[in-house]
Amino acid sequence: MEYKFTSEVQMNYEHSKKKLISCISGVNGQDGSFLAEILLEKGYEVHGILRRSSVSNTKNIDHIKNNIYLHVGDVNDSNFINTILYDIQPNEFYHLAAQSHVGLSFDIPIYTAETVAIGTLNVLESVRKYSPFTKIYYAGTSELYGSAKPPQNENTLMHPNSPYSISKLFGFEMSRLYRKSYNLFISCGILFNHESERRGDEFVTQKIVKGLINCKLGKQKKLYLGNLDAKRDWGYARDYCEAMWMMLQHGEADDFVIGTGESYSIRDFLNVTGDYVKIDWKDYVEIDSNLFRPTETEYLLAAPGKAFSKLGWRPKVRFEQLVRIMVDAQINLEV
Ligand code: GDD
Repeated sequence: MEYKFTSEVQMNYEHSKKKLISCISGVNGQDGSFLAEILLEKGYEVHGILRRSSVSNTKNIDHIKNNIYLHVGDVNDSNFINTILYDIQPNEFYHLAAQSHVGLSFDIPIYTAETVAIGTLNVLESVRKYSPFTKIYYAGTSELYGSAKPPQNENTLMHPNSPYSISKLFGFEMSRLYRKSYNLFISCGILFNHESERRGDEFVTQKIVKGLINCKLGKQKKLYLGNLDAKRDWGYARDYCEAMWMMLQHGEADDFVIGTGESYSIRDFLNVTGDYVKIDWKDYVEIDSNLFRPTETEYLLAAPGKAFSKLGWRPKVRFEQLVRIMVDAQINLEV
């Protein structure tokens, strides 16, 4: 039966009961765009939520824009989220939208808490009230561990240490509370750092990749960075989006650590990128104390055994290959 949408939709919506319906908040981000591709490949009808912007913010999804339903709005607008859930009744909702920059969260803590914490509560409430059969994926993060000793797994005590991660902890605990209290299917991925050629320029990996290539080409004289000693467990974003989908196909809702089980410092990332680009990064990198965070997460190392055994998930791309993927993509853009 055809019915009229109450929300603003950019395509004619023909509700097909034959297809599984998915909805992704933050569809135009790195993860949202990979996940949309994966869900399309699997035959889902894909709806994506993105914020309005006066300049184009769809470069990650331009190639699939005609195959997905785009909804312009904000997870902080509860009326908007209610309408989406009521209208679409998705089988799966992937809640990825967030102010996801840890450093920036110290400058804009209130906005960060509103989008990350209250935005999540809006989604949970909408699902509870208007679409309780929808399975939810909550984007947790390894930042939740903060100063906890590595390696970190699902049982490691969390010590978040930024406005971003404390807001994420609110979303994480709320998701678990709603799972328990209302019997909703809500799975939380505790994803360690995941990067790709679509990574935003403000994150350290992409900043290093683009910066060193620009230095090599003579377009940039210096690359300013902060703490080079922090260690991260870096994987490839598309692999991690596969894990999100796998979590919602699992028999029961649960929490899963997703990572590679290997950790490298920012200095290591500079070394491997410098070698591949064939440039001595020490000639170009300068330390800017303004780029240090008031508190730092020093050492993240995933223990992803539960995801390996229960989901059968494995990371396909390892550290050096990740660097090569990012550098190659950037060089292709340059030529
Ligand atoms: N962004 C940035 N810029 N980070 C720098 C810089 C710089 O110039 N110099 C050093 N770093 C260090 C940061 O202090 C941090 O220790 C590390 O590089 C990684 O920073 P980001 O790439 O900004 O990522 P993140 O680890 O803080 O957070 C990312 O991963 C989380 C999962 O663990 C984000 O994607 C989060 O949204 C995500 O939850």
